[in-house]
Amino acid sequence: MVDFKKIISSLIEKEINIDVYNSIKEIEDPSKGDYAFPCFSLSKEMHKSPIEIADSLCSLIKDERIEKIESVSGYLNFFINKEYLIKEVLTDYDNNRDNYGKEDHKETVLVEYSSPNIAKPFHVGHLRSTVIGHALYNVYKHLGYNTISINHLGDYGTQFGKLIEGYKLWGNEYDLNDKPIDKLVEIYVRINALCEEDETVLARCRENFKLLEEGDEYCVGLWKKFSELSLKDFDKIYDLLGVKFDVIKGESFYIDKMPEVISILDKNNKLTVSEGAKVVDLEDQGIKTPCIIVKSDGSSIYATRDLAAILYRARTFDYTKSLYVVACEQDLAFKQVFAVAKYLDLDEKYVNGLEHVSFGMYRLPEGKFSTRKGNFVKLEDILNASINKAKETIMEKNPELDNIDEVATKVGVGAVVFSDLYNSRIKDEVFDLDEMMKFNGETSPYIQYMYVRIKSILRKNDTEVLLKNVKYDKLLEGSAYELIKLINKFNDVLNSVISKNEPYFLSRYLIKLATTYSEYYNEVKILSDDEEERNSRLYLVTVVSEILKTGCNLLGIEMPERM
Ligand code: ARG
Repeated sequence: MVDFKKIISSLIEKEINIDVYNSIKEIEDPSKGDYAFPCFSLSKEMHKSPIEIADSLCSLIKDERIEKIESVSGYLNFFINKEYLIKEVLTDYDNNRDNYGKEDHKETVLVEYSSPNIAKPFHVGHLRSTVIGHALYNVYKHLGYNTISINHLGDYGTQFGKLIEGYKLWGNEYDLNDKPIDKLVEIYVRINALCEEDETVLARCRENFKLLEEGDEYCVGLWKKFSELSLKDFDKIYDLLGVKFDVIKGESFYIDKMPEVISILDKNNKLTVSEGAKVVDLEDQGIKTPCIIVKSDGSSIYATRDLAAILYRARTFDYTKSLYVVACEQDLAFKQVFAVAKYLDLDEKYVNGLEHVSFGMYRLPEGKFSTRKGNFVKLEDILNASINKAKETIMEKNPELDNIDEVATKVGVGAVVFSDLYNSRIKDEVFDLDEMMKFNGETSPYIQYMYVRIKSILRKNDTEVLLKNVKYDKLLEGSAYELIKLINKFNDVLNSVISKNEPYFLSRYLIKLATTYSEYYNEVKILSDDEEERNSRLYLVTVVSEILKTGCNLLGIEMPERM
C-alpha cells in the first residue's frame, strides 16, 4: 500500500511540527479532493481560527506530488497529482503481486471455529461459525500472522453412554459406512425413547458413560468409531467449503487437564459450594450467574473443559489473540469462562487475548427447507440446493460451458458463503436463495461474473500485459482513477477486517470494486484500437481481476474462469 496520508502529513508537519497523521481523512467525493485535513484541533495550540490555519497552510505547502490544495471552512483538501498517484499504486502492486496486502507479524493468532458435535448433524448454526471463522483465519494469515485454526469438536458428554447402549442393541441394523450421522441420530432418538420407558436402560447408559470415562476398551473403541465416522461426514462439507484445520482436538482431549484447573481455582480460594456443585462466583466482575466448574454429581462440564483448553493453548501456542467463533447463544457462557480465566494464574496477555467472536442466527424463510424434524436443516441440503440453483442459471445463460458442475459448485457454494459474510456478523441472516444467487445484486455470483468478464477480455488479447507498457495518463478517466484508489485500499480493508473481526468489510469492498469495474467497462472500450490506451487499460483490469480473486479466496470463495 502506498501511504498517501503519510506523504500529506509530513508536508503539514514540516510547517507546524505537530503529528497530524491520524487526523488525515480520505475524501469520499473525488471532486472535492483525495484527502482532507481538518484544522480544528490545532486551533487552541496555535491560537488561530481553523480557517486562518487552513488558509496559511494552503499557501505554504508546495509540492510537485500535490496538484492542488483547497482551504474550505477550516479543512485543507488535497488533490494528489493523479499521474503520480497512479504510478505509485501500480508500481507498488507490480512489485508485490501475490504478496499484495501482506505484512510481517510475529504474533500468533488462534481462530477456533466450526466445532460441531460428534454423532449430531452439522446444522446451519455451524455453517456461520465455519464460514466466518474460515474467512478470519485466511485474512489473518494473509496479513502475515502466525495463524492457527482449531476445530474444538464436541466429542464428550453423557449422550455417548446412550449411543453406546443403542449401538449394542441395534448396531447390526445399520450400515454406518453410509451417511453415518443420520444413522447415529436415529439410534440416539430410539434409545432416548426407550430410556423414557425403562429406567434400567437409562441406568445402563449411565454405566456406559462411566466405563467410557474410565477407559473401558469396548466403550472407548465405539466412541472412537463414532468420532471417526462423524468426522468423515463433516469432511464432505469442509471439502465443499475448502476448509482445513491446523488443529482438531475434541473436548475429550481436555478431560485429563481439568484437575489442574480445579486445583488452581481452589488454591486461589475461588471455588465455593452451591447446591452441591463447585462454582466460581463472578459478581465482582459484574456477572450475576456463577460459573459451574464441577456439577453436584461430580461430573465435569463444558466450561471446565474450555478453561482447561485455555491453559493448554496458552502454553502450547503462546498466542496474542485467541478467537472463538461461536453463536450468540453462548455469549454468557464465554463471558463466564473468560472471567474465570483471570483466576488461572496465567500471564495477563493470554487472558486479554481471549475474544468471543459472536454471531446471530441463520434463519430460514417460512416454508422452505422444513424437514422431518420441524425447522431443523442440514447444511449439506442448503449447499446442494444452492449448487442446483446455480446450475440451472448457468445452463440457461451458457449451456455450452463444458465444466458446468465444477462452475456450479463454485458459484453455488460461493453464494451461500458470501451472503453469510455480507452483513455484520451479529445480525440474524435470512437464508434466501433467490437473493443470494442474483447475478446483478450484491452477491458473489455478481463478483464472479465480473471476474469472468475480465478474463474473457484478457483471452481476446494476445500480447503480454506489462506495467512497462502502461501510460499513466491513459488512466485518468473517472472510474479508472477510482479503481486505482480502491486497489490501494486493499491492505487497509484487510486491517479493518481483523480490527473488528468482521469479514464484511472485505465483502463490501469487493462489491465496490466489481461495480466500479462495471462502470469503467461501460465508459471505455478496454480493447481500444489505440495501443497505449489498450495496454494501460488491460493492465488495470488485470490488477482488478487479481484482487477480486484474492479477495474472494480470502472469504473462502473460489473463482470460475468462465461461467
Ligand atoms: N460444540 C459446541 C456447539 O456445537 C460449540 C463449541 C464452541 N467452542 C468452545 N470452545 N466452547 O454448540
